Amino acid sequence: MPNLTTLDEQPTQGRFATAPALSVIVPCYNERPNVQPMVRKLNAALAGIAWEVIYVDDNSPDGTAEEVRRIAQHDGRVRCLRRIGRRGLASAVIEGALSSSADYIAVIDGDLQHDETRLPVMLAALRTGGYDIAVASRHVAGGDNAGLGGRWRHFLSNFGIWLARLFLPVRLTDPMSGFFMLPRGLFEELARRLNGQGFKILVDLVLSSRRKLRVLEVPARFRERAAGESKMDALVMIQFVGLLLDKLCGGMLPLRFFSFALVGGLGVVVHLAVLTALRTATPLGFEAEQAIATFVAMGFNFQLNNVITYRDHRLRGARLWQGLLLFILVCGFGAVANIGIAQMLYEQKTGWTAAGAIGAVIGVVWNYAVSATLVWRAR
Ligand code: GDD
Ligand code: MN
Repeated sequence: MPNLTTLDEQPTQGRFATAPALSVIVPCYNERPNVQPMVRKLNAALAGIAWEVIYVDDNSPDGTAEEVRRIAQHDGRVRCLRRIGRRGLASAVIEGALSSSADYIAVIDGDLQHDETRLPVMLAALRTGGYDIAVASRHVAGGDNAGLGGRWRHFLSNFGIWLARLFLPVRLTDPMSGFFMLPRGLFEELARRLNGQGFKILVDLVLSSRRKLRVLEVPARFRERAAGESKMDALVMIQFVGLLLDKLCGGMLPLRFFSFALVGGLGVVVHLAVLTALRTATPLGFEAEQAIATFVAMGFNFQLNNVITYRDHRLRGARLWQGLLLFILVCGFGAVANIGIAQMLYEQKTGWTAAGAIGAVIGVVWNYAVSATLVWRAR
């Protein structure tokens, strides 16, 4: 087995004597230091198998894509899909998988936490065992979760597993796993129904299948992260809850609207809290107080939607301020309707709380319809 350093120098002609039978999809964000070690490990684990690795990088500022391309110059089995203006683990996996021509697709994290030696076992099980999907599980005999962060991470993971099991039609001990393999044909069959938001692509796949998938779980260690840090946070859990709700509603409820409405609901609370504070503490008069409360709630909505609802289209730097101005501008119309209708209701002797809330709700619905396209340019 030639070691990778000589492999690095050798020309790549002929290395692709046969098309890859297995595409290993690696969603990555800021994983530069882990790329070379990962390619070495794949090279060792997949000896005798025609494989390729497809890194799907969301324009990492640490130069992950450049590192992948540096290696790809000497090794045709290494590919990079660089995404600009889109973020998200699940959507990265989907785009990477849809760029493959191999018979089988594996998904694995790019931080060396997953045990790549499980890949040949999973491939053999799919080829000869009659399974639809092979999942590397930390929670079957022989598996372990030692590499997962502190107690909070274990709590999040166990809560996610418990929640997922309520909805899953098949028994999965580790539905949170991001390490699994399936035939490309099955992925293509399910791709159209995938939600593609958030982190948990395995749950998305299993819930998108119209038939009960035959799942094999192989024990796997979840190692310590080799370098860099986890991108998993509580917001991912909010997206996960939204994914389950979206599936429960048969995809009828766009996940984004659910998230925007949740943020809008919080915005109404902020709106009324500010209005109450102004009513009790200032002599400004209702119209001015409603206007101030509206704009404070609007800024709150914009920021929370940028971090949660449109996390995969998150605006940063100068675009954040342009987005805020655009959000205020285009949703200013919603505010005019909000304040006008609230004022009209108030003058017709509707209680000021109901008048304030109805005006705010009209503003939220208007803001969703307008901001989805003009501010975040998301579907
Ligand atoms: N392209 C892209 N875009 N990749 C991402 C993004 C993103 O927005 N966020 C994370 N990744 C990549 C990371 O670079 C890493 O390769 C992999 O996805 C997992 O991300 P981590 O941040 O390391 O996740 P974790 O260590 O907390 O692991 C948890 O989530 C994984 C993914 O579901 C655990 O639940 C693991 O079991 C699971 O594999
Ligand atoms: Mn990780």
